[in-house]
Amino acid sequence: MHASDVQEVMKRVEALDEAGAKQRIDALVPELNRHNRLYHEQNAPEIDDRAYDLLYRELVALEERFPAQVRADSPTTRVGGAPVEGLEPHTHRVPMLSLGNSFSADELREFDARIKRFLEGDAPEIVEYFVETKLDGLAMSLNYEDGALTVAATRGDGLQGEDVTHNVRTLRSVPLTLKPPSGEVPDRLSVRGEIIFNLPGFLKMNEDRAAAGEKPFENARNAAAGSIRQLDPRVAAARPLLFMAHSHGELEGVELPPTHSALMATLREWGFKSAEGWLCRGIEEVIEAIAALGRRRSSLDYEIDGAVVKVNSFALQERLGFRTREPRWATAFKYPPERVRTTLDGVIFQVGRTGAVTPVACLRPVRVGGVTVSRATLHNADELLRLDLRLGDTVEVERSGDVIPKVVQVVVDEAHAGRPAVVYPETCPQCATALVRDPENAATMCPNSTSCPAQVREALRHFGSRLGMDIDGLGDRIVNQLVDAGLVREAADLYTLRVEDLSKLERFGEKSAMNLVAAIEKSKDRPLRRALFALGIHHVGESTARDLSAAFGDLDRLIAATELELSGVPGIGAVVAKSVAGYFRDPKTLTHLQRLRALGVKFVPEAASTVVVAKAGVAGKTFVITGTLPSMSRPDAQKLIEGAGGKVSGSVSAKTDFLVAGAEAGSKLTKAQSFGVAILDEAGLLALLEA
Ligand code: IVH
Repeated sequence: MHASDVQEVMKRVEALDEAGAKQRIDALVPELNRHNRLYHEQNAPEIDDRAYDLLYRELVALEERFPAQVRADSPTTRVGGAPVEGLEPHTHRVPMLSLGNSFSADELREFDARIKRFLEGDAPEIVEYFVETKLDGLAMSLNYEDGALTVAATRGDGLQGEDVTHNVRTLRSVPLTLKPPSGEVPDRLSVRGEIIFNLPGFLKMNEDRAAAGEKPFENARNAAAGSIRQLDPRVAAARPLLFMAHSHGELEGVELPPTHSALMATLREWGFKSAEGWLCRGIEEVIEAIAALGRRRSSLDYEIDGAVVKVNSFALQERLGFRTREPRWATAFKYPPERVRTTLDGVIFQVGRTGAVTPVACLRPVRVGGVTVSRATLHNADELLRLDLRLGDTVEVERSGDVIPKVVQVVVDEAHAGRPAVVYPETCPQCATALVRDPENAATMCPNSTSCPAQVREALRHFGSRLGMDIDGLGDRIVNQLVDAGLVREAADLYTLRVEDLSKLERFGEKSAMNLVAAIEKSKDRPLRRALFALGIHHVGESTARDLSAAFGDLDRLIAATELELSGVPGIGAVVAKSVAGYFRDPKTLTHLQRLRALGVKFVPEAASTVVVAKAGVAGKTFVITGTLPSMSRPDAQKLIEGAGGKVSGSVSAKTDFLVAGAEAGSKLTKAQSFGVAILDEAGLLALLEA
């Protein structure tokens, strides 16, 4: 681009008033969008890059001078503005459903037979199907109102997803406005599809990441999800992501074409890319098309995890309807997992957060199921025995979709018997403690949970993880450094770290030390459910932590809960109840929790769903107050209760109606529990007073 051209353009921009600028913007935006389409979708540019850049810079300059004139469909709005604060929920007006699966030709024939049975005498002899690639990406709903993109949302649980419009609008394959050749735009339309990575682009991005010392992504699908479920739109804008349409949600204001294949053609006319597909007459043609796609699978430049078979006629789809949340008119065919051969170079024994010692195969790197694999899980000692692995053996490795690569079997050759066998260690490879077998879970455990460095590291990583205490900057490298330097042995130690301790560590500047200390400080305010997850209690994942928090509301009530009470909580089974009760009975746990609290971790109580018999009211009821309440003194609480007609007594008996328990509630709490007295925290008391 010549500097003089740019100057010329800038002069023109400066000479315009707002009305003139609007006129020019109204001409430039559709023009630039048209060139974008010609270039990206039709591979048929009409102008060269230089001419395009000049028009683009003119638009940028006009918009900078007159920000009020920026159009929603301006190509400049794709580049990603400021990050959003958090992802907002979005409720789908038409739910996003899932698909039933088929795994063989016979199951496909059964699918066809089921459709004909359902339609009874009225079924066509030969059903017309559409076979499509099943795109292995992030499911997305793009909502348009009067032809303009309003919301892009993830699938979520099918009813409610997350609003990710700020990221999705940065993808060039997402039309910001619909351009039907007829000019007739629907009042409302939601286009459903997947956001996927272009594979060569994905591989290149991973190479760049590795070169920059960043962790490469596991697979294209996770990378797509990671790019879109982001606050900062510049991330998605910089990645080779693509939206491909495969179905529709709501459609109002224009007539739906008669078939799925016609709808896909229409969407392409309107500016979308669509999943590749083939029209098939009858199920035998479907089976052939699926086999043909299977043969081409590895040469596609995006990842698929199967094929989708759909009844083509919308009238028939309508008659077939849905069974629970799956349409009767479609099925997902899953190809058998890809299996390849490679050499077993070694076996390492990894110590996890819970102390389980897992054998992991180190493989000569091999490409399988779309990714390069160099590690595969061997599960446990029983699996090692079953496989009879020897170092240097040729092994068969399988991987499908999300599943962790797996060693399926050894290819036994003459040399196999003479090769060195893999032996399970007797002691922990990290701390040399004697390992113990847990036959119930077919696991081998390192019992040294408090000082085995591997367990300590994993526990800390888990504690600071995004779903846990969400401590920004507490990455793997830092955790290793903290543990190696002896600065941190348990989570509570994090809260004692000072900037001067950290800045002594290698490659740790004053600024990052300050940031980390601030992030740790911030984590003290996490709600109970997050803190519970962070503690890493056996069997307590994110959703169990949420269930526990919803049921008990605050940490003391949870600590005091018996195994029986725990197993009464919806969603909590006997195994979890036992594990949780055991955890809170362990004196080591209680000491650690006490330390965490003393250092300021709040385990912020949440509204408990079990605010017992709240409707019963306060008048005439007997209350006992114990422990320290978070925001009021005990006499204040007493005044409130008495003001509402309740009585306050000093000791718990069978006649007590409510125990109001604060922090460090002691024997009164135990006694109240043994009498089955309803227990309230401060929030529960206030709720009761209000009721
Ligand atoms: S049709 C009513 N077509 O797979 C069903 N889905 O496993 C509408 N998917 O939730 C979906 N490629 O997110 C359809 N060609 C394709 C697809 C496809 C991928 C996803 C979709 C769906 C999931 C079900």
